[in-house]
Amino acid sequence: MRCIEPREGVSVGLSREDVERVDREGLHKDYEAWPEQAESALKLSLDLKEVSVDEIVYCGMGGSGCAGDILQDLSFSRPRFPPLYVVKGYHLPSFADESTLVLAVSYSGDTEETISALKEALERGCKVVGFSSGGELEKICRENSIPHVKLGRALTPRSALPYILFSTLSALERLGYQLVSASELSNTIALMRNLRASIGVESDLSDNEAKQIAQHLYNAHPIIYGPQEFRGVLIRFKNSLNENAKVHALVEILPEACHNDIEAWHPDALSLRALFAINGSDGRLRKRFDTLMELVERSGVEYRSVYVKEATLFESIVKLLYLLEYATLYLAVLRGVPPAPTPNIALLKKRLSGD
Ligand code: F6R
Repeated sequence: MRCIEPREGVSVGLSREDVERVDREGLHKDYEAWPEQAESALKLSLDLKEVSVDEIVYCGMGGSGCAGDILQDLSFSRPRFPPLYVVKGYHLPSFADESTLVLAVSYSGDTEETISALKEALERGCKVVGFSSGGELEKICRENSIPHVKLGRALTPRSALPYILFSTLSALERLGYQLVSASELSNTIALMRNLRASIGVESDLSDNEAKQIAQHLYNAHPIIYGPQEFRGVLIRFKNSLNENAKVHALVEILPEACHNDIEAWHPDALSLRALFAINGSDGRLRKRFDTLMELVERSGVEYRSVYVKEATLFESIVKLLYLLEYATLYLAVLRGVPPAPTPNIALLKKRLSGD
């Protein structure tokens, strides 16, 4: 294997050895298994009947919530799809009733906010499907004869994302609300397998876009720009920058950012580093992206662009998701921070549970 040339100021490389030394818990192994996670999630052995509802509410926090954002982004491009709302909190919207489908998703099954929303859904007679790897959520589903999808094993909720995303897609399809066709799903899994070869731990920095992005974002405050249809992926990227690499990050969505954030590009923005995620299929936004890049450059801030243009929106979303997730793992390694443990989240949960 060729030696990795670190960026100036970066003292660690990104070889498999470097990754294993920092990621002692082995989070990278979960990421290596993402295509297989997706494949196994599609083999959902749950008897679900078609339903007819006025709206869908996805309830989930953190790593379990972000699949909801992605489903919502996908739903915007589907004609005649019911409104899909994402709840990241304790309460359902007040309109939720018997004609609402609620997907209650918590990887651990013990997240306070999601359990509270699930209980509200039961009180209001909503149609409910639960998703967890076990915990209280599974118990409540069993006690109330609610369909429950048992999610596969992973080290953390965020590294179980394909289990969550592909099982919720699969359940929605069986309930009569298809967001992604069977052929798109299998093409996407093939795409993930190809991508893994180029962004995985074994691939050298010079050919590895995820490692290059990590180097670009090293020792700076990342600000991430992208279009509306990538909103869910970019929020997820921010969350994994927080949880894996333990850094703050900002997400700005275009065209809205051209009406506010754009003014903040002044020469005093030097501690920032920008990343643009561009959907190659939207020509109208290009002038906005180009102008913003020019202003970023004029401020003396380094930026990098990621161009995505796959055959379908779902494929583009998953490609970006996988690429950026690996970048957060590599950034953690460059910073010498173990990516798997999230001690602050654990501390808060412990305090809330009264232990
Ligand atoms: C991600 C992570 C958190 C949790 C969140 C909710 O890896 O650890 O963002 O996803 O605290 O917990 P769960 O997903 O168990 O409902």
